[in-house]
Amino acid sequence: MFQDLKPQAPDTILSLLAQYRADERPGKIDLGVGVYKDASGQTPILRAVRAAEARMLGAEVTKTYTSLAGEPAFTKALSAMILGPDIDPARLSAVATTGGTGALRQAFELVTRTSPEGAVWVSNPTWPNHLTILAHLGAQVRPYRYVDADGTGFDRAGMLADLGAVRPGDTVLLHGCCHNPTGINPTLADWADIAALLRERGAMVIVDLAYQGFGDGLEDDAAATRLLAAALPELLIAASCSKNFGIYRERTGLLIGVSAPALAAVTQANLVYLNRSSHSFPPDHGARIVSTILGDADLAADWRAELDQIRTTMLSLREALAAELRQIAGSDRFAYLAQHRGMFSRLPATPGQIEALRRDHGIYIVSDGRMNVAGLNAATVPILARAMIAVGI
Ligand code: LMR
Repeated sequence: MFQDLKPQAPDTILSLLAQYRADERPGKIDLGVGVYKDASGQTPILRAVRAAEARMLGAEVTKTYTSLAGEPAFTKALSAMILGPDIDPARLSAVATTGGTGALRQAFELVTRTSPEGAVWVSNPTWPNHLTILAHLGAQVRPYRYVDADGTGFDRAGMLADLGAVRPGDTVLLHGCCHNPTGINPTLADWADIAALLRERGAMVIVDLAYQGFGDGLEDDAAATRLLAAALPELLIAASCSKNFGIYRERTGLLIGVSAPALAAVTQANLVYLNRSSHSFPPDHGARIVSTILGDADLAADWRAELDQIRTTMLSLREALAAELRQIAGSDRFAYLAQHRGMFSRLPATPGQIEALRRDHGIYIVSDGRMNVAGLNAATVPILARAMIAVGI
């Protein structure tokens, strides 16, 4: 049988990471995969995470199965962090998942099985793994415009025009904040118009919320998701704790369904079924870290403070890079770097320029131009700025 297997193209982001790890140059800089690094180049374990794990080690008395939906303490606390106090809890269903990607996978499976004729609309560009999973499920994918002609700003008119063709039964995937890969985000006024249009079109909506707390703060980054939950009769939210709790390898995510209260029980049963039929119980360790932190006022305050420090560090790096480039290039054409939010910005660079950054300067960015700002530090900002100008970006 195995002779019939087809070769699989490597994931663009993860194969770049392997290339970076194999590079022996001491000054190499990894701006590829989306992980936060501190000034020493480490991806730190957050203080509150360490404290929660120490507490868990002392308190845990069993490793027996949890429930197929995960621990209610986790699903409740994270749902509240995402949706805030105003949502009617009777509208909610939720299951823990294997990371944000697991939540996306379940959400895509739910919509493609329920509405096999419907298209799934994704921003152009989007996170490459969205496309990988959708292709694997045989979904009919349609792109909507997102980026303006310069490649660095939001194409509001294009997005609204394209989404005007959405039909009932179609699903629209939205990035709740910190758009991956571009770093470009609609304003709240734009979101209100997007929500109104999608309501009118009768679309199902999936929000990918992988970076809450990495843009403008925990509350601000949830504002678009909350607006959509208030405006639309139904919504799926795929949330990740990888970045904001820094627990990447623990695979901690949440899939939330928002529906009419009368449909919450059947939605919950379907989310549970998706867990059972794909991997049975969701991972528990990371979820327990999150519920321990969110359930303790002191740990939660410390986690929020450290997350905010990470966020403001990323903003300072954005500003430093834009300022450095302004000085070297003698123009404001890189001002967008300070305006974008989250870990990523996508440089309008040619494949040759991206290759030259890697070959001549040991700087790794994704082949579509996506750069992880959180991989920079005060010492590497000027190195990157000079290299960008040297390769002609
Ligand atoms: C990324 O976009 O770099 C991260 O979400 C890691 C991944 O799985 O691709």
